[in-house]
Amino acid sequence: MENLKRQLNEYVKPELDIISNLSNITAILNVHLDNINWVGFYLADKDNKQLKLGPFQGLAATPLISYENGVCGLCARSEETIIVDDVHCFEGHIACDFRSNSEIVVPIFKKTGEFYGLIDTDSPSKSRFTNKEKEILEYVSELITSLL
Ligand code: SME
Repeated sequence: MENLKRQLNEYVKPELDIISNLSNITAILNVHLDNINWVGFYLADKDNKQLKLGPFQGLAATPLISYENGVCGLCARSEETIIVDDVHCFEGHIACDFRSNSEIVVPIFKKTGEFYGLIDTDSPSKSRFTNKEKEILEYVSELITSLL
């Protein structure tokens, strides 16, 4: 975690464009989290109740996800962290990468408390994500809040 914090501190700056910051965060997380095949952001399009693909590392992914669909949609509706141990047992899971077997999705909020988007991470292993990854990604989410 200290190494992650150091890298984030080095590259993530409030004076930079949010897309530049989010892009570097995906690159840093992709190196820091082992055994993952996708990490990136979906950003809220509140008016249309959908999520738009943001910066990410991994295979090309679904560009638009309705709040009604998938693990990301559930996160957008509940505004809570979702851990899925086996994506094949999650009804409505959207498979962007056929290698994915487990997933964690963490909401991001603006300083006002409004839902801004989410961090989505996939792993080829089942039950890859625990409270440790939840803590790491919620730390990153709060860091992003401080930029918004
Ligand atoms: N699996 C997600 C879709 C996004 S991809 O994993 C990158 C879902 O079910 O919402």
